[in-house]
Amino acid sequence: MKQKVITLDEFIVKRQMEFEFASGELSGLLRDLGLASKIIHREVNKAGLVDILGSVGNTNVHGETQKKLDVFADEAFISCLKNSGECAAVASEENDNIIVFEEREQAKYVVALDPLDGSSNIDVNVSVGTIFSIYRRLDENRAITDDDFLQPGVNQVAAGYIIYGSSTMLVYTTGHGVNGFTLDPSIGEFCLSHPNITTPTDGNIYSINHGYRWHYSDGVKKYIDHCINSDGLREKPYSMRYIGSMVADIHRNLIKGGIFMYPRSKEKPLGKLRLLYECNPLSFVVEQAGGTAINGRKRIMELQPTELHQTCPIFMGSPQMVEMLHNCVITHNAAKKEG
Ligand code: AHG
Ligand code: MN
Ligand code: MN
Repeated sequence: MKQKVITLDEFIVKRQMEFEFASGELSGLLRDLGLASKIIHREVNKAGLVDILGSVGNTNVHGETQKKLDVFADEAFISCLKNSGECAAVASEENDNIIVFEEREQAKYVVALDPLDGSSNIDVNVSVGTIFSIYRRLDENRAITDDDFLQPGVNQVAAGYIIYGSSTMLVYTTGHGVNGFTLDPSIGEFCLSHPNITTPTDGNIYSINHGYRWHYSDGVKKYIDHCINSDGLREKPYSMRYIGSMVADIHRNLIKGGIFMYPRSKEKPLGKLRLLYECNPLSFVVEQAGGTAINGRKRIMELQPTELHQTCPIFMGSPQMVEMLHNCVITHNAAKKEG
């Protein structure tokens, strides 16, 4: 073996001193998230073998049918976080209200979760993911409320995602760059495989649900014209890649360079993707890798959340591509209208 393998747990402990409040609690929390994701990895990888595919028959707060694996992932993460001792409460995309761990009322952190991202892809063996976002509580001496979660993304102390793809990877940031770890199933450890991830400043991939093209704002339509090169400003069109699992689309674009877009549309005037569970954590990762993330006009991480499950339009990725999109929005959308 040429190089020493660094496991996620070793890496987290080594980097502990980077944290603003370096008392080991955040390290413990990150390790617990790593543990929960190994459990989801195990289930995702045998999903075709057991009775876990398909719908469980319930509908979540967003009006979507919950899949069995959604429910499993939600329960597994919540249970690991509850046992962790470092997490005081969880807000999950799959639950209407926050879950407060009464017996952990001294804990300093709260976690927002999209336990299973891309659930429409579970039944067809396509990559899915988990997204997490960690905040420090507003005041440890005060009972936890939604306000502890309704903090702008710039207040995140750590965030990341797990992609259950052709291999399982955990990618996270604590505000000191982005590092990626690949799960070696033979030893059950996440091993550092992608140190200091940086995203290309420009790219050749645009990711959007193209089927809704005519439902987007004028600014976004103009940018799509640019992507397909009908404005003739480039030598050739960009390639369109859209998996339909945000984590997988973001992960690919992060590594290769590109732009991911989920604009508002006539049917979804506030966009689809959730500010707390999807947009803020992935924006933190993308920004830490050198990319940008906006709602068309404003930086995502500076938006003040007002509701746990609120959604927003999002455009994120290679800075030069996001800049071009921003220019189209400013030029072609009505004043103050975002993407
Ligand atoms: P989730 O499975 O957590 O509900 O998220 C699905 C999201 C996101 O992963 C993806 O980018 C987007 O929905 C796809 O939506 P469309 O099918 O409307 O393009
Ligand atoms: Mn999601
Ligand atoms: Mn989800």
